[in-house]
Amino acid sequence: MITIQKATPEHADGIAKVCIDSYWATYGELLSSEYINRMIKEFYTRERIIKEVTTTSKGWNGWFVAVDDEEVVGAGAGGMISENHGELFVLYLDPERKGEGLGTKLLDAVTNELKEYGAKEQWVSVTKWNNKGIPFYEAKGFIYIHEQDEYGIIEGEDYQALRYHRVL
Ligand SMILES: CC(C)(COP(=O)(O)OP(=O)(O)OC[C@H]1O[C@@H](n2cnc3c(N)ncnc32)[C@H](O)[C@@H]1OP(=O)(O)O)[C@@H](O)C(=O)NCCC(=O)NCCS
Repeated sequence: MITIQKATPEHADGIAKVCIDSYWATYGELLSSEYINRMIKEFYTRERIIKEVTTTSKGWNGWFVAVDDEEVVGAGAGGMISENHGELFVLYLDPERKGEGLGTKLLDAVTNELKEYGAKEQWVSVTKWNNKGIPFYEAKGFIYIHEQDEYGIIEGEDYQALRYHRVL
């Protein structure tokens, strides 16, 4: 049975695995290995994720996980970026588990918590050309607003991120 729940430290390894696997599956042909490895090293270590599940706040609401028979098959997280604007910061599934509605369930869980924090509008950044993510957000009513430099790029990298927005 699949459950959507707030993550605890026991889920840290599963969150890291799902995010790393999905990162390569999603961006392997879009971004350089150097960039991908740098992001994985920054975000998807056990130590960082354990901190992120134990230390939550208005600006970081913590991780939600989709768990199937004790295995983490998806993970997402959000937080408030201003008084009434929330953001979905991250959402990844086991690449083998796309198209089953798990992304919808995780997005709903993150969004409901953002609403409890007062969110009336929601944002998400998606890497330009990410055709595994953009159609999902468009199906959920997000509208493209503008383009900006991708997070964490260094000299010689010119990746762009698209900012999408929806009213809650
Ligand atoms: C994006 C992601 C989380 C969506 O989760 P999912 O469980 O596959 O999506 P769902 O099954 O809940 O689909 C919900 C809707 O989005 C649509 N959709 C999702 N992915 C789609 C795609 N690649 N192309 C077209 N439509 C898509 C579905 O058709 C569905 O539409 P409907 O509600 O009208 O039936 C998942 O596919 C994923 O992990 N993608 C790769 C990682 C990624 O890009 N993450 C976002 C980074 S910002």
